[in-house]
Amino acid sequence: MTDHSNKDGFKSNLGSILALAGSAVGLGNIWRFPYMVAENGGSAFILIYIIMVFAICVPAFMAEVAIGRNTGLNIFGAFRKLAPKGWWFQIGTLGILGSFVISSFYIVIGGWTLAFLARSIVGSFNGMNASDVSVLFANFVDTPIETSAWALGFVVISVAVLISGVAKGIERFNKILMPMLLGLMIIMAINSLFLSHFWEGMKFLFQPDFSHVNTHTVISALGQAFFSMSLGMGSIITYGSYMRKQDNIMKSTFSVATIGILISVLAGIIIFPAVFSFDIPAEAGDRLAFVTFPAIFQVMPGGYLFGIMFFMLLLVAAVTSNISLLEVIVAYLTQEYKMKRGIALAIVVAVLSVTGTLCAFSLSSDTSLIIGGRSLFDLFNYFSAAYLLPICGLLISIFVGWKWNKNSLKQEISSNGLYPVRYFPFFRFMLRFIIPIFIIFVFLYALGIM
Ligand code: PHE
Repeated sequence: MTDHSNKDGFKSNLGSILALAGSAVGLGNIWRFPYMVAENGGSAFILIYIIMVFAICVPAFMAEVAIGRNTGLNIFGAFRKLAPKGWWFQIGTLGILGSFVISSFYIVIGGWTLAFLARSIVGSFNGMNASDVSVLFANFVDTPIETSAWALGFVVISVAVLISGVAKGIERFNKILMPMLLGLMIIMAINSLFLSHFWEGMKFLFQPDFSHVNTHTVISALGQAFFSMSLGMGSIITYGSYMRKQDNIMKSTFSVATIGILISVLAGIIIFPAVFSFDIPAEAGDRLAFVTFPAIFQVMPGGYLFGIMFFMLLLVAAVTSNISLLEVIVAYLTQEYKMKRGIALAIVVAVLSVTGTLCAFSLSSDTSLIIGGRSLFDLFNYFSAAYLLPICGLLISIFVGWKWNKNSLKQEISSNGLYPVRYFPFFRFMLRFIIPIFIIFVFLYALGIM
């Protein structure tokens, strides 16, 4: 096993779990999950999503952590080390591409969050109802220079965390921000209990209705599970490479999966009772968090503070995930090209200021950045989750299941025999057969081949 004790890395088990959870829990859980639930017919979607998380994503997550920790390297270096021959290291290309694609639209939403936090603080939404906020949001998105500037502000916050490195930056901030996020969410969920239509929201969330379930639901749930567990693009491999040898991979994975589901469900508990109580169409789509909420806070007791709290928690969740996206590229550049962290970050910022700006501009009304009927922003959002991540996840599963030596894998997962790995055969079986077959099946179906 490689010894990288003198390398910058996570210094405690709790630190690594919170960092992994910080990566996983993000806009995916609080912004994306509720509108996916709304679009896909409510709780049946949640059930399928939870099955996907445990059956498909938990083994895939353990596999990524194991690759990272075993090699102690970035996504390219890791595959090159484990399989010096062949083309497996090209998974790294997909990963780097994935992190740029995702962060390009992610920072735009991060920018909206920042802007809406500022607007909540100065009281710009005062006296507005949902249709006023909807107009405000539409006008806001239609001023791409402003939204790009906010996106850049969001990037600057992420860089400010990353510049201090892994232990002093990523780990330290996650240890502060993740408990804060959970605390804010619990306060807001408790507040939901007192809304007039609490039970209606709960029914929508928890009473399964399978009449809406079709292949699209399954693809969306799979994509959502991959996206929300940060799989299939190297974030987990990279964070895994910073973990200590004595940390328990299986336990950490289950903790992250559970925290992720808990936060997604909490987001649902915060959002849907409010949606029903204030008569807002639940299918407001990806605008749900930005249009619905500011309006609700106007009529909710204590709404001023809750408004600030909501955008604050969204910001925290977004920053802790975005840094894990960018760290994939930073680790790659610093390790493979021996760049300084500062230089690597400067390159990342330079690329993102172009690609993020393009995403922001693709949402303006006179844009020409529409491809196949979708704005660049939507394209990046949809295709990264629905295609890029599962395809990359498929390759990683095949690699770990078929190519990587079984004993080395077992040694890594058990921390050299330190922890029992009772489920190992099941876990490896999932990686070898079920995950690849399932993902291929879903794609063939999606492409109309089956
Ligand atoms: N998991 C993050 C979220 O839910 C998004 C993300 C995807 C982060 C892939 C890193 C890698 O918001």
